[in-house]
Amino acid sequence: MTKKLRIQRGFLFALLAVLVLGLAGCGKDEQPDDVFIADEPEDMGEGDIGDESAEAPSGETEAAAETAPAEEPQETQPPANVEMSSVTAPDADTDVYEIVLGVGSDETQAIVKWYGTNTEAGTVYVAKAAEMGGNTFPVTAQIVNSTVSPADYQSYMVNAATVTGLERDTEYCYMVGSANGWSSLRSFHTGKEGQADIIVTGDIQLGTGDNDGENVAAWNRIVADTVSRFPDYNMHLNMGDVTTMAFEDHYVNSINNRLFSDYVTGVVYGNHDAAGDLWNKHFSQPNQSDFAQRDGKANGNFWFKYNGVLFMELNYQIEDIDILVDHKYFIEQTIAANPDCKWRVVLMHYSPFSSVAKYQDYSDQNREYWLQVFEEYDIDVVLNGHDHAYTRSYMIQGGQPQKSDATSVTNPEGILYVTFGSASGSQYHDVNPTGYAAKTLQTYTPHVSTVNFTQNSFKLTVYDANSWEVLDSFEIIKE
Ligand SMILES: [Fe+2]
Repeated sequence: MTKKLRIQRGFLFALLAVLVLGLAGCGKDEQPDDVFIADEPEDMGEGDIGDESAEAPSGETEAAAETAPAEEPQETQPPANVEMSSVTAPDADTDVYEIVLGVGSDETQAIVKWYGTNTEAGTVYVAKAAEMGGNTFPVTAQIVNSTVSPADYQSYMVNAATVTGLERDTEYCYMVGSANGWSSLRSFHTGKEGQADIIVTGDIQLGTGDNDGENVAAWNRIVADTVSRFPDYNMHLNMGDVTTMAFEDHYVNSINNRLFSDYVTGVVYGNHDAAGDLWNKHFSQPNQSDFAQRDGKANGNFWFKYNGVLFMELNYQIEDIDILVDHKYFIEQTIAANPDCKWRVVLMHYSPFSSVAKYQDYSDQNREYWLQVFEEYDIDVVLNGHDHAYTRSYMIQGGQPQKSDATSVTNPEGILYVTFGSASGSQYHDVNPTGYAAKTLQTYTPHVSTVNFTQNSFKLTVYDANSWEVLDSFEIIKE
């Protein structure tokens, strides 16, 4: 299609869309219409990740196709003063796999990673949805080239690019790719000042047992439900253990979806992620610290902040008792560098208050240390995974549970610890509640949760990801 014809067709679509919809932007549920002008992709060969004709790892594509609602193609018209480029996102991904919109240093940044086969630098195009013309980027689109490094998996390369200058309360569209092929349009929504609306998932851990195909299908359904229920949320946090064995074909089943590409996503380093070297290749680690690095891997703790909320990720593994103090130094330095954040959140795979019997030994072992450190540095909330069961602690103060049935506290002195259940339903552990737990749940169903920060409030809501019944909620108010 020539550029002139494409513009004419785009104009007709735009006129129709304005008449019918009166809307602009690239929502998560929209299907692109036009095609990008990139070169023909090279032959990928069988067995490539994300190759729909390949045997494995599939499942995601078929399941997503089954669950995704059918949408009419939409073209939208940008404001009259926005000049369009000739760069248009295609309607399907080519030579782009496992796009993760990783958390950046703060709310103005995001670190995009993806796999492709081109050994040359790739590119990210980013623009405000309001300035897009359907799937065509304005000439003012931000263009960022990626760095590329071998994925050490077949012939794939890891692309990484940092997007900057993101504004608050804005919907953005982006696409990634290279001369070998481009992604379809992705989008995300930044938070308002002081606000972070976050989807939280516990262990996904695909690649478990003989029924992994069922687990993959269930996870794809959960992702589709979640994305459709929380379209304007700003962030996705996963509490670690994305896969069981850290194999690439398990990662692709877990992360090759809109939950990872259409929300700024932070992923905690779990013990199963530590089984391989893939976690670093898929997920961002802004402000990475030398503290708590192990085995020469680029896996030290990292932090980011988002609209006044400071997140500190601790790559804590239970065998690393000798470097516990590293985590303390990391927290001390991070808070010293970010004294202005209203909320301080620790992200850590292991809980100091496990409700699963077989995990309680190491919870007991290091609890005193963690509680002392978190209280010393005035942490508000600690978010955990690993248990495949849900636990909300009482407010813990001076190492002691402040026992109460209240589901809202105002100006508490203590710290809240939340352990999120399985996000995919691939594995559940029975619970053995302790005296620290205000709420313990093993529903033998997958859970998806939300956390909503404002300048003065933290609100937790836990959903059964099958029925979407609310299983638990809790609120902290700071007056
Ligand atoms: Fe784990």
